[in-house]
Amino acid sequence: MKIVCIGGGPSGLYFALLMKQAHPAHDITVIERNKPYDTFGWGVVFSDATMDNMRIHDPQTAAEIQQAFNHWDDIELEIKGQRIRSGGHGFVGIGRKKLLNILQARCEELGVKLVFEMEAQGDQDYPDADLIIASDGINSRIRSKYQDVFKPDIVVRPNRYIWLGTHKLFDAFTFAFEKTEHGWFQSHIYKFDDKTTTFIVECPEHVWLAHGLDQADQEQSIAFCEQLFAKTLGGAKLMTNARHLRGSAWLNFQRVKCEQWHTFNGNSHVVLMGDAVHTAHFAIGSGTKLAIEDAIVLANLFRSHGQTRDVIPGVLAQYQTERNVDVLRLQNAAWNAMEWFEVCGERYCDQLDGPQFMYSMLTRSQRISHENLRLRDARWLGEFERWFADRAGLAVPAERPAPPPMFTPYTLRDVTLKNRIVVSPMAQYLAVDGAPTDYHLVHLGARALGGAGLVFAEMACVSAQGRITPGCPGLYAPEHLAAWRRIADWIHAQSDAKFGIQLGHAGAKASTCVPWEGGGIDHPLPEGNWPLLAASGYQYLEGVSQTSQAMTREDMDAVTAQFVAAARMADEAGADWLELHCAHGYLLSSFISPLTNTRSDAYGGSLANRLRYPLEVFRAVRRVWPQGKPISVRISAHDWVEGGITPADAVAVARAFKEAGADMIDCSSGQVSKKEKPVYGRMFQTPFADRIRQEAGIPTIAVGAISEADHANSILAAGRADLCAVARPHLANPAWTLTEAAKIGYTPQPWPKQYRAGKQQMESIFQRERAQAAQAQASAARAAEA
Ligand SMILES: Cc1cc2nc3c(=O)[nH]c(=O)nc-3n(C[C@H](O)[C@H](O)[C@H](O)COP(=O)(O)OP(=O)(O)OC[C@H]3O[C@@H](n4cnc5c(N)ncnc54)[C@H](O)[C@@H]3O)c2cc1C
Ligand SMILES: Cc1cc2nc3c(=O)[nH]c(=O)nc-3n(C[C@H](O)[C@H](O)[C@H](O)COP(=O)(O)O)c2cc1C
Repeated sequence: MKIVCIGGGPSGLYFALLMKQAHPAHDITVIERNKPYDTFGWGVVFSDATMDNMRIHDPQTAAEIQQAFNHWDDIELEIKGQRIRSGGHGFVGIGRKKLLNILQARCEELGVKLVFEMEAQGDQDYPDADLIIASDGINSRIRSKYQDVFKPDIVVRPNRYIWLGTHKLFDAFTFAFEKTEHGWFQSHIYKFDDKTTTFIVECPEHVWLAHGLDQADQEQSIAFCEQLFAKTLGGAKLMTNARHLRGSAWLNFQRVKCEQWHTFNGNSHVVLMGDAVHTAHFAIGSGTKLAIEDAIVLANLFRSHGQTRDVIPGVLAQYQTERNVDVLRLQNAAWNAMEWFEVCGERYCDQLDGPQFMYSMLTRSQRISHENLRLRDARWLGEFERWFADRAGLAVPAERPAPPPMFTPYTLRDVTLKNRIVVSPMAQYLAVDGAPTDYHLVHLGARALGGAGLVFAEMACVSAQGRITPGCPGLYAPEHLAAWRRIADWIHAQSDAKFGIQLGHAGAKASTCVPWEGGGIDHPLPEGNWPLLAASGYQYLEGVSQTSQAMTREDMDAVTAQFVAAARMADEAGADWLELHCAHGYLLSSFISPLTNTRSDAYGGSLANRLRYPLEVFRAVRRVWPQGKPISVRISAHDWVEGGITPADAVAVARAFKEAGADMIDCSSGQVSKKEKPVYGRMFQTPFADRIRQEAGIPTIAVGAISEADHANSILAAGRADLCAVARPHLANPAWTLTEAAKIGYTPQPWPKQYRAGKQQMESIFQRERAQAAQAQASAARAAEA
């Protein structure tokens, strides 16, 4: 085949050499506009895993790279006068020039034609090529030419960064953070040869503008950065090698994705590779890794399908399918890491103490979990866990390891939870005339024995009219109080869990069927419906639900009085914790969301107005709820509908409740409008808990798809929330907390004394499973080495 690679970066060169090595008869040319030894950029990093991959595919280049690269394990943080270091992270750094020179030399040795200082005008100049590789980088001309086919999606991010170098040598991948009068700057620092270190400086656009850096030339920018990072640099100079860039040389990262990766131009097949088709933010330094792996996959496909023109269409289709999955996964991780650096100045730098800031930074891509950090550096994680436990008020003797974060206690007002796991409220629809029954005693009792620190009962409705279904429990009659007291007493007598009651009014979602009867969930009762109250008149299910009545001032007073009476009863019943349900489209939530509140009086319009009634209820409840007991507020932190509540609004909502005396925000989302388009995934609502906790400065509960100890530990350790609520996993397993403790080998976890025989058995089963998994992993690693 005749192959032309337009662009002699890592992807074009590596693909050329792999193809020539596999099939020397190929006629391969690489066209590069720069001189052979002339290239932008300082060092690039990639992981040990990429090196392993290169070793398999061309041992010779891998060996040369290995000789030239700098390997390091440690990550060091410098912030607020502290230096924190952890190990086991395994990176490889190499000068971009050096890398390209190795690849160029290997290409020449194999017989690839390298044409330097030639600007390719386009694919049409190579009509006799069977295959044209568009490896022409982020500003790919070929991608632009065929943009109707490739459909590129390019997002320009708000942070500004400048790519600098220094001769000061650092022995760890270092992140340094400095605050100015206008905000925080961060630097990403890594050595890539025995003389030089890459030094990227980054900050938000508004901080950059406030310092007038948009007006600064390169010298002035360098002088600014040298002064700002003087402590880190220890007197060393910074330098640029981007003289070709005009203006300030501060860039915005562009994230590139393409819908289609290849086309046929009438003569040749044209395919995008490397930065031309996808970019990954330098926060996880993987652009080169992706470029190299594109080359490996495409060359491998030719190896297995044949080295002839006729296989090209099938090979290119498969290349796109295969690479798209890996690239998207990496781009997602890179996106998380990039966003972390975009918001860290506002969200984490001032708020988190050094060790927790380090933890948050290390887990920024959300690919590295708590147990993964333990594998990387058990000593550092052990110290971190001790720091966390100490802050939780737990005195752990020096000779004993501290418990993982989820097993540390948490105190709010006069209530101390033995650990950070909460059984999230879950409607069971089995109450009779608003009274919980033996079913609730058994259901909640079992979960109290199951190890969680706080067990919430399902929403208790403040009136018969406020019930979601006829099967929902309430707190509006003396018999309800007695039934709840029986449950609270049992939990307190038989376990050391605390008992929480969630108070709510179903609003426009009331008077509906229990899920397994009639029309099912959210559908009005076949008969015996009662009128609905809400912020405004609307149907939750358009054309199906009853239409709610907009509450009058009298209605509001009456409902407030019901909340107050229910709160008094919850206290008398012995609940330790109260939660006000202001989420999921129920009555109080209907006031907060602009999708359901269309009032034109003082309770509608601005967010402050929409919050007025829910805050009135909150304050009235707080007045009668004992000072020593906490109240959390559950909100829908995202309506997932254009024009609805956004996570930024949720911060304002949380601030308002905090000011009114709320102790904690339970960060749920959605269920306000049927038009919602939620984006589900592991821990998908945790970003809301994180943002609210840092920006509104109030403790939070994270909830939603938290299904393993590893999830809970990483959320708590990074300070993304103070408690983790777990719902559906508790339906399957009342003893979720005990099970997860055994699964991760946390054996100090106490069990109810009558269950202790089960504890030993479960712990040894999981221990065996862990040992087997470790053994399997070790043999897989040995097999890969061989
Ligand atoms: C400043 C900077 C720092 C980076 N740091 C890292 C890092 O630390 N780790 C990491 O993994 N990645 C890093 N990257 C990303 C990394 O450089 C790229 O992801 C990687 O080089 C992509 O390889 P590529 O071959 O696709 O494109 P490139 O390396 O961009 O190569 C494209 C080549 O095509 C040439 N070219 C373009 N158009 C034409 C034309 N019309 N005719 C002839 N030649 C042409 C260009 O001169 C260039 O040499 C960095 C990128 C930049 C810009
Ligand atoms: C059967 C069921 C009933 C629920 N009832 C309530 C409820 O009464 N009050 C409430 O705030 N959330 C309720 N939820 C939502 C859960 O508390 C939780 O926020 C949600 O299920 C996400 O957590 P998970 O992914 O751990 O299940 C319910 C969820 C389920 C599955």
